[in-house]
Amino acid sequence: MRKFWVLFVILALSSGVLAGEKIVIGHRGAAGYLPEHTLESYAFAYALGANYIEPDLVMTKDGVLICLHDIYLENTTNVEEIYPERRRPDGHWYALDFTLEEIKTLSVHERCRRDGRPYFPNRFPVGASRFEVPTFAEMIELIQGLNRTTGRNVGIYPELKKPSWHMRQGYDIAAALIEVLDRYGYRGPSARIFVQCFEAEILKRLRGEFHTELPLIQLVSASPAYWRMWTREGLAAIAEYADGIGPNKSIVEDNPDYVAWAHELGLLVHPYTFRADSLPRKYKSLEEELETFFFVYRVDGVFTDFPDVAKRLLRQAETIP
Ligand code: G3P
Ligand code: CA
Repeated sequence: MRKFWVLFVILALSSGVLAGEKIVIGHRGAAGYLPEHTLESYAFAYALGANYIEPDLVMTKDGVLICLHDIYLENTTNVEEIYPERRRPDGHWYALDFTLEEIKTLSVHERCRRDGRPYFPNRFPVGASRFEVPTFAEMIELIQGLNRTTGRNVGIYPELKKPSWHMRQGYDIAAALIEVLDRYGYRGPSARIFVQCFEAEILKRLRGEFHTELPLIQLVSASPAYWRMWTREGLAAIAEYADGIGPNKSIVEDNPDYVAWAHELGLLVHPYTFRADSLPRKYKSLEEELETFFFVYRVDGVFTDFPDVAKRLLRQAETIP
């Protein structure tokens, strides 16, 4: 089996398909090693060699973009201990109900279920050390600062979370994004950034209303509501406003033509999410899964909680003569 892979990688390299162009995206930082969406997790992803680092973005009551995966605070912070009375009737503590100053009093921990058990039991111990919720501006300053001290040019890969929900609450998260990106110099098609979202309308708005030329990525869920985006026609429609797609990896597995269709339309393909501790049964290791996606399915990049594993794989491919 190993021989097959070596042969395949050599063939792929000789046909110019491979490694240099492929990117590794630190998913929520290096979430396999440190609590997601903390400056520590972003810095670790940077040190592990990620080409891009991913912050998910939501807004605070006072209109600040913060790095958080959920519109709720309780899954990854101690908000229920610090502000027990601030829960909405639906049982959630919404980031949008708290000022930045209040959110800065919270401690971030590993993602937990409602009963307090961590999703990934072998990850960073819940409650150990202290981590803050960062603002998007703090995240950018960290990455740009490290770029200056290391001489590297690591990019950012922000995801707007639930823009239409924010809009219904009276907050324009797209306008807030453009303001921050402009302030920190992310302009034009060659900026070291991809902006991603599940909502097509917001990406179209970024292109149309905000006239942004920044690279845009349409996220494609495996949920049936997205079935059109699984088709060639759906991809052609995406190519009208985006530069690439971020599909759930199961969509790529289920349709051997999907990546080729996207490439024919000029779309990059960056599937999510690759985790050593949540491996599909058919793979024996994360390395094997990543090899398949990079060199058989020929994706252009991956979102992974373990950026070191993906970088090591790509480096090994590059060094095969
Ligand atoms: O943004 C790519 C991937 O992160 C989408 O899933 O839920 O982890 O944000 P999620
Ligand atoms: Ca994301």
